[in-house]
Amino acid sequence: MKKICIFYVLSILLGQICGNENSTCSTEMFDGDFNAYMACRTQFAHQSNWFPSPIAGLFSYLIWNGYDGFWENGCVLEPMVNFIAYANNTRYINVVKASQRELYSLLEAYGPYPSFDDMGWYGLSYSRIYEVIGEQEFLQSAIDIFNWAWKTGWDHTYRCGGGFWFDNNFANKETITNTEFLQLAAKLYRLTKNNDFLVKMDQIYHYILRNKLINETTYLINDGATSKCKPNQSYGPTYLPGTMIGSLVEMYKISKNKSHIDLANKLANAAILNSTNITGIFTEYCDPHCNRDEILFKGIFVRNLRYLMDELDNTDQRNHYQDWLDFNVKAIIQFNMCDKDPISNCNITFQDGPPYFNVTGPVFSPDWNGPFTYGAPEPQTAAFDLFVASIKPGTTCKGIFCSYDPSYPPPQTLTCGSHPCPSNEECCEYSPYTSYTCCTPDQKCNKQGICV
Ligand SMILES: *[C@@H]1O[C@H](CO)[C@@H](O)[C@H](O)[C@H]1NC(C)=O
Ligand SMILES: *[C@@H]1O[C@H](CO)[C@@H](O)[C@H](O)[C@H]1NC(C)=O
Ligand SMILES: *[C@@H]1O[C@H](CO)[C@@H](O)[C@H](O)[C@H]1NC(C)=O
Ligand SMILES: *[C@@H]1O[C@H](CO)[C@@H](O)[C@H](O)[C@H]1NC(C)=O
Ligand SMILES: *[C@@H]1O[C@H](CO)[C@@H](O)[C@H](O)[C@H]1NC(C)=O
Ligand SMILES: *[C@@H]1O[C@H](CO)[C@@H](O)[C@H](O)[C@H]1NC(C)=O
Ligand SMILES: *[C@@H]1O[C@H](CO)[C@@H](O)[C@H](O)[C@H]1NC(C)=O
Ligand SMILES: *[C@@H]1O[C@H](CO)[C@@H](O)[C@H](O)[C@H]1NC(C)=O
Ligand SMILES: *[C@@H]1O[C@H](CO)[C@@H](O)[C@H](O)[C@H]1NC(C)=O
Repeated sequence: MKKICIFYVLSILLGQICGNENSTCSTEMFDGDFNAYMACRTQFAHQSNWFPSPIAGLFSYLIWNGYDGFWENGCVLEPMVNFIAYANNTRYINVVKASQRELYSLLEAYGPYPSFDDMGWYGLSYSRIYEVIGEQEFLQSAIDIFNWAWKTGWDHTYRCGGGFWFDNNFANKETITNTEFLQLAAKLYRLTKNNDFLVKMDQIYHYILRNKLINETTYLINDGATSKCKPNQSYGPTYLPGTMIGSLVEMYKISKNKSHIDLANKLANAAILNSTNITGIFTEYCDPHCNRDEILFKGIFVRNLRYLMDELDNTDQRNHYQDWLDFNVKAIIQFNMCDKDPISNCNITFQDGPPYFNVTGPVFSPDWNGPFTYGAPEPQTAAFDLFVASIKPGTTCKGIFCSYDPSYPPPQTLTCGSHPCPSNEECCEYSPYTSYTCCTPDQKCNKQGICV
């Protein structure tokens, strides 16, 4: 039974009187699938500890407590909806649904010009949400994001074959923007059958090939191209092979051309080999000193690896990836998890004040090799992505907790006058939109209302 919780009006300050609800997840409800059970508990802790942010009312998009920025709040939606799809449940589906925003509202977030890759994560999550849940508004926002990026972010002079710029400084072209929008173009073509997306998909792919961003010897993906249209010989971040594998899978779904799957397999095996510690554990090139963005990359890789696994006829190849995922599941539980009683011993960190729900475990830290250091939403999401990606196909959910979806306080309309930002972060109010943001500690708010 769902326990009754009593909320005070000032619940953010006083906390919540409520029983321990970690028993809402069990292996039985997932037919014994352990990975689904771990996904369930990891998501439960993610939502209990960091959702919603106490300063949600400041933002034009849905935010968690402690993500470093706009893109991460969009990126987490994809594993949330993948869990719904892969373990046939509707846990937290209203949180997912509440994430829908129109393009205009997302653009406000950056006061007012997000980098194209940041918007791309929303495009990918929204198109996946539409695919699984089927609400038209998500598809429309994903289309609007793609069209906005194409119009304002693609190099229409076609120097070096075009390509997306990183942001509206138009200074450099990073591979990630291009792999994200390649995947989105292919997916939008599949979902809409609008030929325009197919034409643009071909152009983005052509740009990637022409600049030799996929190394044909190592099958590693280059981080960016130089102004001479050459790869800049910088490799490492696993979200590059991740999003490129996801792109090739989408291209395969359109054409049924097996060479896309063959290439995706080469990229996957190369990335796994290049990013595996001697221990056999998946390790980001920057581990254990990754910045907060980079902490999410391993999750993005395994998420896309699963999309590839779903298209493989070759069971040996699929089993090979499944074994690798299962190995990493065991590793992070053994080396990188904290689930102590009391949970206050787990060094769980918050950015915007204490949580609305009771703090709970398990929590995971950034380096999957361990040792456990601290709990925060980014490493939690990477672990969640891993558990979700490794759920066995055909897993279903049974029982009342399959639709567990606790209510949470609606965002309040805060202003800078409400002093909502942490003491070391300046509150910044910008026009022509009426919105606000907290600057990072090293930034100040300028006259235009932009943190610089
Ligand atoms: C949840 O919070 C309430 C109020 O602070 C507390 O009484 C209760 O023991 C907590 N439950 C757990 C499991 O921590
Ligand atoms: C709930 O969490 C606590 C602490 O993590 C753990 O000791 C307990 O066994 C969990 N209960 C259930 C039913 O999973
Ligand atoms: C769960 O499975 C049933 C039967 O296969 C299907 O009708 C339903 O749409 C699925 N639900 C989710 C949330 O995937
Ligand atoms: C591919 O990688 C190899 C080994 O790092 C390197 O020598 C070669 O220059 C790269 N090729 C291109 C086109 O960048
Ligand atoms: C290569 O390009 C990427 C993306 O622009 C950049 O982040 C990276 O620092 C560059 N590396 C080198 C060695 O120039
Ligand atoms: C399949 O894709 C490969 C690589 O893009 C291409 O060379 C080949 O012509 C395609 N095959 C068909 C039948 O379209
Ligand atoms: C990964 O690839 C890069 C570029 O080729 C290389 O410098 C690095 O040593 C490789 N790392 C591992 C662990 O294989
Ligand atoms: C590999 O894992 C070991 C054991 O956890 C750790 O000491 C080492 O730093 C890791 N190496 C890399 C490259 O991450
Ligand atoms: C607790 O987490 C913080 C990072 O938020 C870290 O700096 C600190 O070292 C951690 N403490 C322990 C005991 O690991």
